[in-house]
Amino acid sequence: MTRPRILVARAIAPATLDRLARHFDLTPNADDAVWSREEFAARLQDQDGVLTTGSERIDGALLAACPRLRICANMAVGFNNFDTDAMSAHGVQGTNTPGVLTETTADFGFALLMATARRVTESEQFLRSGAWQRWRHDQFCGTDIHGSTLGIVGMGRIGQGIARRGAHGFGMRVVYHNRSRLDAATEAECKAAWLPLDELLATADHVVLVVPYSAASHHLIDAAALAKMKPTATLVNIARGGIVEDAALAEALRERRIAAAGLDVFEGEPTVHPGLLAVPNVVLTPHIASATHVTRQAMADLAADNLIAFFEGKGPLTPVNRPLAAPEKIAAQRTADR
Ligand code: GLV
Repeated sequence: MTRPRILVARAIAPATLDRLARHFDLTPNADDAVWSREEFAARLQDQDGVLTTGSERIDGALLAACPRLRICANMAVGFNNFDTDAMSAHGVQGTNTPGVLTETTADFGFALLMATARRVTESEQFLRSGAWQRWRHDQFCGTDIHGSTLGIVGMGRIGQGIARRGAHGFGMRVVYHNRSRLDAATEAECKAAWLPLDELLATADHVVLVVPYSAASHHLIDAAALAKMKPTATLVNIARGGIVEDAALAEALRERRIAAAGLDVFEGEPTVHPGLLAVPNVVLTPHIASATHVTRQAMADLAADNLIAFFEGKGPLTPVNRPLAAPEKIAAQRTADR
C-alpha cells in the first residue's frame, strides 16, 4: 500500500520525525535548509501533506502549483501564514497547535513585561560594558508591576493566562479588549474587565498584545494609538509583527512618549527595524515566546497528530478552515468544466 507523502518544511524534534516516518513516506528538512518560495513549491509538488512552521506562506499561487496537497499542519498556534480562504477553495485542510503552548507563552509574556518594566536587559548591558562604578539612588529606576493596571489586547487562551498571572500573582487590576466579551465566569476568574481599546490604552500602565494578526489588526498600534498611552506606560508584543507599526514605535520610544517596550515579534522578522535597535528602552527577543523544550516538543507532536489523524480518516484534531472539497475532487471538477 502506498503511504501518503509528507514534507516537513523545517527541522523539528527528531522524536516527532521518527513517529511521522512510521506513518508516512517522509521528506524531512534535517539541515533546516532555507528554501526560496520556488524551491518550496517544487519540493511540495508531489506531496500529500506538509508540516509547516509560521515561516512558510501557503497561498493560492502555491496551492495552484501543488494539486496533490491535502493538508498543511502548522507547528504554531498563529496561522496568518495560511490564506485559509484559498486553502478551503483548493480543498486543503489547515491545522494549528492551540492549547499546548498557552501557559508557556503566557509565562514568557510576563517575563517580557517584567524585563521591560524593570529595565533588566538595559541594566545588564550597562554592567557588562564595565560602566557600573557605584550604586545610585536613581539608577535604572523602572515601573512597578504589582498593583498597577494591566491592559491585555486579545483575550484568548494566552491573554487569559497573562490576566490570571497579573491578577492573582501580582495584584494587578486587569482590563482587556477583545472583539467579543468573555462570559461572566471567565471574567471573574481572570478578574478582568472589558474596555474599548482607546480607553484601555489610556488607562493601562502596561499594555500586552496577544491578538491574532489579520487585516483588521494590521498596525492596530500605530502612532495615533501610541499617543493615547501614558508616557510612563510600557508596551509588550508577543502576538505577531505587523500588529505594531515598528517605525512609529521606535519614534515613540526615542522621544520617550512611552517609557519602554518589550518585543518578541517584528514586522519583516528576522529583520528588525533599525530605529528599534538604536534605542535603549526596548527589550528585544527573537520570537521565542513558546520556546521551552517541553512545549516545542508538544507543538511538533500536535502537528504530527493532526497529519496522522487526517490520513487515518479521523479528521483533523485542530482545524483552522473548512475545505470545500478534497483537492482531487476539485481537480476533477475543473477538468469536467473545461
Ligand atoms: C508562535 O508564534 C505561534 O503562533 O505559535
